[in-house]
Amino acid sequence: MSSDPKGLILRDCNVLDTDFNGRFVIQKDAEIAIKKGVIEAVGPRGSLVGASMDYEVLSCDSAWVTPGLIDCHTHLVYGGNRIDEYQARLGGGSYLSMNEAGGGIYQTVESTRAASHGELVKLAKFRLRQMARNGTTSLEIKSGYGLDLASEAKMLRVARELDGFLGISVKTTFLGAHVVPKEFLNRGDEYVDYLVEEVLPELNSLGLIDAVDGFCETIAFSPEQLKTLYGRAKSLGIAVKGHVEQLSNSSGASVLASFDALSADHLEYVDEKGIQDLAKRGVVAVLLPGAYYFLSEKTRPPVEVMRMHSLEMAIATDANPGTSPLYSLLLAMNMATVLFGLSPQEALRGTTANAAKALGYRDRGRIEAGLRADLCVWQIDHPAELSYYLGLSPLIYRITNGVIRDAQADE
Ligand code: NIG
Ligand code: FE
Repeated sequence: MSSDPKGLILRDCNVLDTDFNGRFVIQKDAEIAIKKGVIEAVGPRGSLVGASMDYEVLSCDSAWVTPGLIDCHTHLVYGGNRIDEYQARLGGGSYLSMNEAGGGIYQTVESTRAASHGELVKLAKFRLRQMARNGTTSLEIKSGYGLDLASEAKMLRVARELDGFLGISVKTTFLGAHVVPKEFLNRGDEYVDYLVEEVLPELNSLGLIDAVDGFCETIAFSPEQLKTLYGRAKSLGIAVKGHVEQLSNSSGASVLASFDALSADHLEYVDEKGIQDLAKRGVVAVLLPGAYYFLSEKTRPPVEVMRMHSLEMAIATDANPGTSPLYSLLLAMNMATVLFGLSPQEALRGTTANAAKALGYRDRGRIEAGLRADLCVWQIDHPAELSYYLGLSPLIYRITNGVIRDAQADE
């Protein structure tokens, strides 16, 4: 690891970014100057102030440099695992019926409530190391396995503590509306009142929340219940997002659009009206192919219709123990191309600029002077290689806030 008090020039690299239409933008044989954690300039070889004593020079040997990857939807902090459920589903069981029977998410609620702060930090750091090796430089972490004030606060404190680990930036999301906890069985409305009156304001005043999420589904919350939650979030000045149209359509996308949400996530069952509403309000569609794959779903998100309406698409891992034990954004990109029909260009856009927008970041996600120097340096010959491999990470260096980390060395 080396920091850049002097400034840094990445020389002899191919700069790879994407444009709004999801096309690659390539500058071959280029160099990038970084100062104080910020991209200072990008230009052809030799055009920057490389001779100055103020810069260290890193020769990239024709490697490719992209924006640092951003994972805009994860449930990274949790205790236990769901191996029993995984095996039961292999034998023909369904995710919905397991949740209805009090397993599924409820199992992880139990194990997360039982885990200490320190245990959760340790588990999450182990997972973050894997993510970093695959190029993650920023990520979102949701709560939602606590479902009471103390346990949700514990999860969010863990997430805050992870901010900066391996240089990774963390945004926290309150997902108290994940499912109705057993203590509130058949009293969903009362649980939502508890969230909006007690839990949300308290966690917000503790500074633990960057956004509010809710799961809109037959096994979770209705659009009406989520409107109550989002209304309160908005009144507190907090941005919203949601898990919507994952297993069925309940018009959650349109609800999110009406609250100018940051993102609408999953969307396998979204219809054209939902897509139009999202596109009109600039809400990012976050596609989660890991969950689709791991649950052996058959209904793909209507990517063609999303393109037709210029809906911006992001891709994330959805890393969680139940529906998506996936920790590699590169593999999520591969799945988005093979399973959902995205182009490699759209896949890169989906884990950089569009993922940044989904998290409300304005200072990253592209390679441009003035933006934060979060970059990945890849040993590839062609840009489409980034979504090509299954389980091979061609990452050489990860740069966060101008600090270089050697991706091949153990951290
Ligand atoms: O994004 N859809 C709801 N929430 C998670 C799954 C959580 C779990 O099963 O533990 C998801 O798929
Ligand atoms: Fe999720």
